[in-house]
Amino acid sequence: MCPKSFTTEREFAFTVDDFRFLRNIVSRHTGIVVADKKEDMFYSRLARRVRSLGFDSFKQYCDLIKNDVGGTEITMLANAITTNLTSFFREDHHFQYLSNTVLPELAKTATAGRRLRVWSAGCSTGEEPYSIAITICDSELPVSGWDVRILATDVNSEVLAHAVEGIYSMDRIEGVDRKLLQQWFLKGKGSRKGGVRVKPEVCRLIDFAELNLVSAWCLPEPVDFVFCRNVIIYFNKQFKRLLVDRIADNLKDDGYLFLGHSESLFMVSERFELVGNTVYRKKY
Ligand SMILES: C[S@@+](CC[C@H](N)C(=O)[O-])C[C@H]1O[C@@H](n2cnc3c(N)ncnc32)[C@H](O)[C@@H]1O
Repeated sequence: MCPKSFTTEREFAFTVDDFRFLRNIVSRHTGIVVADKKEDMFYSRLARRVRSLGFDSFKQYCDLIKNDVGGTEITMLANAITTNLTSFFREDHHFQYLSNTVLPELAKTATAGRRLRVWSAGCSTGEEPYSIAITICDSELPVSGWDVRILATDVNSEVLAHAVEGIYSMDRIEGVDRKLLQQWFLKGKGSRKGGVRVKPEVCRLIDFAELNLVSAWCLPEPVDFVFCRNVIIYFNKQFKRLLVDRIADNLKDDGYLFLGHSESLFMVSERFELVGNTVYRKKY
């Protein structure tokens, strides 16, 4: 590890032991692996927290974590460390795959119940589940005749609160198709000027919940497809395998799993076949 760990240039003393201790806690709590080379990033993401607590060093912060009986500070630690980059219609080809392949297929094979169940796992500030909901509303699927529920979850309570609020600045919708913008977004007025939100008929399809993928989660019912994009990339192989296996258990036969652009199930799971660009289908 780089000897810079002991540098005096930093605002707070941050030793190799502090780094190792805290990243182990993060890994146990969230499954996220923090590599040695991410030490600077780790320091800068946590320094804000250390400052706001009025501490002089990371040692004091480690002591707080060691005595964190209720787990409140571990939640703050996880909030500070997770990477939450996202955007509306990120990796647009997945939304095209939904509207051109998945949704027409579901409409064709639908039985009397006409239920559609979706999970956005690691939804960050909500752009992903809102994009899924807009794609469904904008599709041939006659949403009015369907019982559609999208479960959107994340371990980070702060990004989830933003997702629930569902208000975004204008720069967040740059690049979104104009037609979709006109049809499915509302511009803020008065004190909300300069912001946008997704229309209530779209928001109504989504249930947000805090869920840690490391915990003993179980979905209320099997889902038709899962978006778990740009999430497993942070996990070690063993946890990836466990997680993907549990996702398969919670997917309907033939259900779809969408992963991020740099993620793959190679050497992770045999329970899926690749059917599109980072789109997998459960084998049965
Ligand atoms: C880079 S964002 C991806 C957001 C969105 N899926 C996308 O692709 O645009 C990764 C998200 O996974 C969440 N995450 C990381 N570890 C998690 C865990 N153990 N349980 C649930 N969510 C987790 C993070 O909080 C973060 O919001």
